Amino acid sequence: MSYWNDAGGIHILGGDLETMGNQANLSRAALPCQADVGGLIGQSAPMHLLNDLIGRVSRSTSPVLLIGDTGTGKELVARAIHFGGLRCEKALVTVDCSALTPTLVESELFGHVKGAFTGADCSRQGLLQTAHEGTIFLDEIGELPTFLQAKFLRALQEKEIRPVGSTERIQIDVRVIAATNRDLEAGVRGGTFRQDLYFRLNVVQIRLPPLCERKVDIPLLVSHFLEKLSDPLQSVRTISDGALRRLMAYDWPGNVRELENAIECALVLSSGSVLTADDLASVPYGTSARNAPDRNELVPLEELERRAIANTLLETGGNKLSAARLLGIGKTTLYRRLRRYTQLPADRLRAERGPNGKQT
Ligand SMILES: Nc1ncnc2c1ncn2[C@@H]1O[C@H](COP(=O)(O)OP(=O)(O)OP(=O)(O)O)[C@@H](O)[C@H]1O
Ligand SMILES: [Mg+2]
Repeated sequence: MSYWNDAGGIHILGGDLETMGNQANLSRAALPCQADVGGLIGQSAPMHLLNDLIGRVSRSTSPVLLIGDTGTGKELVARAIHFGGLRCEKALVTVDCSALTPTLVESELFGHVKGAFTGADCSRQGLLQTAHEGTIFLDEIGELPTFLQAKFLRALQEKEIRPVGSTERIQIDVRVIAATNRDLEAGVRGGTFRQDLYFRLNVVQIRLPPLCERKVDIPLLVSHFLEKLSDPLQSVRTISDGALRRLMAYDWPGNVRELENAIECALVLSSGSVLTADDLASVPYGTSARNAPDRNELVPLEELERRAIANTLLETGGNKLSAARLLGIGKTTLYRRLRRYTQLPADRLRAERGPNGKQT
């Protein structure tokens, strides 16, 4: 669970954050009609639609439900909506519903008074109250414990909360943005998610497109991540055509997060000034969802080992020491293997060459 209150990363076209701060007395229509959702990279048609939607919902305070696979940018969008909107000067409180401690969750959200339970030495404000006049971002809302769903719904509808152990009610005014990568409707059908809460949260629904539906954004994203992640002292700022082709051929089930990790890993492995296909050890060959080998595929032992190393490096964000530990091998062995993989055999090198036969 974390919360912060800053305005980083969002730039408002036709205005700035200072003028946004004086917007309490402006009508909604006077808000800039388009937020430059800083940090959200993409020029594809789905991203244009998404940016447009973000601009629109930023101008209202209606609840928003963000739906999308892991790594599609739900948290980034939640931030963009908050910091691009009427409440940008107030707190954005993020609650990861999957990480709430069952015994503490009620007091975390609603607060408690002194003596409410053993160990409650003093009163404590709940996160809903911290988010007063701001936004509460309920991440992984599908994981909200069932026993809290009714209480939460009441708090949203009545706009007031009662801290644990208190008889007094506190007025709250929060904008709710919820996110999930689960099928909430299935949860409703299966009885694990309250239908009334679902309706309450699902006022404006925004679906985030998976990266495989907007592959044209990959080159832009890659250049963004090269800029963001490369060591200023290192000169890797570009990527070869062959490497880009390989990135475009993969379906990215982990979406933008997986791509970001792959670029970070490649930067760790790279020794030249241009990222080549050889540096992309963490990007599986032909194992994207669409091109996945069938279950009966016989894979040479060396390739299996290569994939295991690549996936572990991806998992550890390129940290070789952690990867070696996870794989149960020494760091030197890992380095030796990586060196071997980057000296690819001639037939694979040929496959890596572009159609014009040039090494990319
Ligand atoms: N359009 C984008 N442009 C730039 N970076 C992006 C974009 N979408 C996602 N990212 C980056 O990808 C990573 C994952 O994004 P984020 O945490 O918002 O995803 P998520 O949908 O909340 O994933 P999860 O369901 O796993 O929590 C972050 O580092 C984020 O900055
Ligand atoms: Mg998230």
